[in-house]
Amino acid sequence: MPIKRVGVLGCGLMGSGIAQVCAMAGYETVAREVADEPLQKGMKSIQKQLGKLVEKEKLSAGDRDAALGRLTGTTRLEDLAGCDIVIEAIVEELEAKNALWRTLDALCGPETIFASNTSSLTIADMAAATKRPGRMVGLHFFNPVPVMKLVEVVRTIATDPQAFDTAFQFARSLGKEPIVCKDSSGFVVNLLLVPYMMDAIRALEQGVATTADIDKGMQLGTGHPMGPFILADFVGLDTLDRIGGIMLGEYNEKRYASPPLLKRMISLGMYGRKSGRGFYDYSGPEPVPVDLGI
Ligand code: 3HC
Repeated sequence: MPIKRVGVLGCGLMGSGIAQVCAMAGYETVAREVADEPLQKGMKSIQKQLGKLVEKEKLSAGDRDAALGRLTGTTRLEDLAGCDIVIEAIVEELEAKNALWRTLDALCGPETIFASNTSSLTIADMAAATKRPGRMVGLHFFNPVPVMKLVEVVRTIATDPQAFDTAFQFARSLGKEPIVCKDSSGFVVNLLLVPYMMDAIRALEQGVATTADIDKGMQLGTGHPMGPFILADFVGLDTLDRIGGIMLGEYNEKRYASPPLLKRMISLGMYGRKSGRGFYDYSGPEPVPVDLGI
């Protein structure tokens, strides 16, 4: 069954990026948020991103208008009934995700593919909440979605090969590079990236080097676009803590555990770039390392 209409659950940072790339790739796209305010915020951010692409002459004004014409925002789950694939990008809480899947299971046709953008939960734990485990996959995008090429396409032991292939080709049709992943918490990237960021925080706690020098070391020493602290701030420290906590529960391995410094920063509302302060202060033109008393 060819995919024509895409539903996106959640229009936050990830959901709005996913909706943007789907609309740009030619799909009728319905983005759903719980209330008008977050929906308008997400839709404005898509308009802004598309506007920047036009300014940079990477997109014609006509193509921008066509992409926006394919995009609808809604707060009603019923509006996702006719979608061929629904991609979920809401808060990283299994029960919240499963409540939506249960409702959509009754609203959508039996062929509709359900895809989760979860970063650390398992797809099987969502498939089990539906009557369509064969049509449940993972489609894990990376932030910023319009820029990052990778999509992890995840199959559970219950996923139909045909549904998996459709999801894989769909990811490719968005201009992404899909990889095949088994349904284990963190898939490939977060399995390796989360302990890396946690280790960087432990190195900082131990006084191995300063925040800026650890970042510079990893950026210049390994060619990463961002050092681990700039990246952790970019991902969000609360998000890192939440993902690490889920992976710790799954694997019972200390390398996923949040170091005390991370927990204290979160208690103080230091969530990284989104709150203006994390390992760096973002109030000026350039990020400045925060004195963490180490
Ligand atoms: N949205 C859209 N486009 C963006 C953007 C954003 N938030 N941030 C940057 N860009 C675009 C810029 O406009 C620019 O486009 P251009 O080449 O057409 O002019 C291009 O990206 C490069 O941006 P900059 O020149 O400003 O800066 P950089 O060269 O430093 O690139 C970056 C920015 C792409 C964010 C780069 O630093 C990078 O790749 N960082 C690593 C990001 C990463 O690792 N993401 C994964 C996080 S983990 C995750 O998402 C998984 C989750 O489960 C936790």
